[in-house]
Amino acid sequence: MGVSRGGFSSRFGFIMAAAGSAVGLGNIWGFPTQTASNGGAAFVLVYLVLAFSLAYPAFMAELLIGRYGQANAVSSMQKIARNTWQKRFGFVVGFGGIICAALILSFYSIIAGWMMSYAIEPLARLGGFTGAADWLINHSLIRNILFTALFMGLTIFIIRRGVEEGIEKWSKRLMPMLIGLLILLIIYVFTLDGAREGFNAYLNPDISRVFEPDLLISALGQAFFSLSLGTSVMIIYGSYIAKKENLVTLGAQVTLIDVSIAFLAGLLIIPAMYVAQAQGVAIFAEDGSLISGSNLVFTVLPALFTGMGDVGLFVAFGFFVLMSIAALTSSISMLEGPVSYVVERHDTPREKATTFIGLGILVLSILIVINLEWMLDFVATLSTQYGQPIIAMLCCVFAGWIWHRSDILSEIKQGNEHVEHSLFWKIWPWYTKFVCPTAIGLVFWHSL
Ligand code: PFF
Repeated sequence: MGVSRGGFSSRFGFIMAAAGSAVGLGNIWGFPTQTASNGGAAFVLVYLVLAFSLAYPAFMAELLIGRYGQANAVSSMQKIARNTWQKRFGFVVGFGGIICAALILSFYSIIAGWMMSYAIEPLARLGGFTGAADWLINHSLIRNILFTALFMGLTIFIIRRGVEEGIEKWSKRLMPMLIGLLILLIIYVFTLDGAREGFNAYLNPDISRVFEPDLLISALGQAFFSLSLGTSVMIIYGSYIAKKENLVTLGAQVTLIDVSIAFLAGLLIIPAMYVAQAQGVAIFAEDGSLISGSNLVFTVLPALFTGMGDVGLFVAFGFFVLMSIAALTSSISMLEGPVSYVVERHDTPREKATTFIGLGILVLSILIVINLEWMLDFVATLSTQYGQPIIAMLCCVFAGWIWHRSDILSEIKQGNEHVEHSLFWKIWPWYTKFVCPTAIGLVFWHSL
């Protein structure tokens, strides 16, 4: 762990930070929404298989590249490269990931801003400020800009403090809160009428849908987004882990936490929708599918909270605070990608680089807010449906075809003396070389 660039001080710190990056709006909003619109448990099943068989190996490739390089994404890739074209390739992949992270942050912070305004609304209502409460949940340019800036301000505040005092400390505070809140909300929703029906809908797979190409593509996209792949973030987080740590196990633990929280979020959202139905709220769209997307979070669930009376104010507060925390632990990882690059490659103080890059991304966010109808979708599609799979695939190509096999194996061995007897050791190198790039490429090709 380089003294000057900082690093995670403990295993727990890394797990909370990496799980914090992985667990975000994608888990608590995206996953249940995708499940609702893709045949319930059939989607959950496919997601679990793809998360462990494709996303986890790709995730390990990024962590290993970072830990080997002990530097920002570009420098880490270039340390592996042995000639000029490989160095150029390393630059394209590393820098591409950094741009991808910045683009995701530019639209993610807008949605996170909405979560924050919806979290404050019940407080305003409790305090009797009805006008302010209404303003907070009605779309307006000013509200959108203000809350996007507020959210970005929090992200900048944490990243300015560095790896240990910023990312690690805040992830260790926020992640246990997130898990606690999630469990409390699930328990409460389960006491309500209609929850059981939702539970059955969530866990009853329609096996006939398991091999539908659309379902496979959605599940893989969701798994990649959730593990923050193809964004340089896991390369950076990998670079802050000490050589004495067992990376294979740490990576598996983070994947398990990520998948479990997505699964738990489904246990909250889908039953909550059926509770809303029991209260007379429409939860099915005209084509018979469950309502998903922004209507689910900003219409169906708020209608449910309103129907609960005064308790609903506390539940709404808890739910949107949960969303805001999930978003914040992810957004800090997105900002760390470009910041670490500028700090290390251009010898800039961290505070200055963070403020400068954070404000730059905020300008892009404001541009998106002003052109919300087309630009939000455009930037989201560009970065998550094109950028992430392409960069993640190239990272696997880099690890599988450019990195010397003996160097990879000795990196895997660091902190894990007995790894030679494990399945990971036997399978992962060729799996990353052949299976991952081909499978990611095929699914991406099909999605076009
Ligand atoms: N993994 C986050 C989520 O599920 O919401 C999103 C994310 C975080 C994407 C960090 C990309 C990234 F670099």
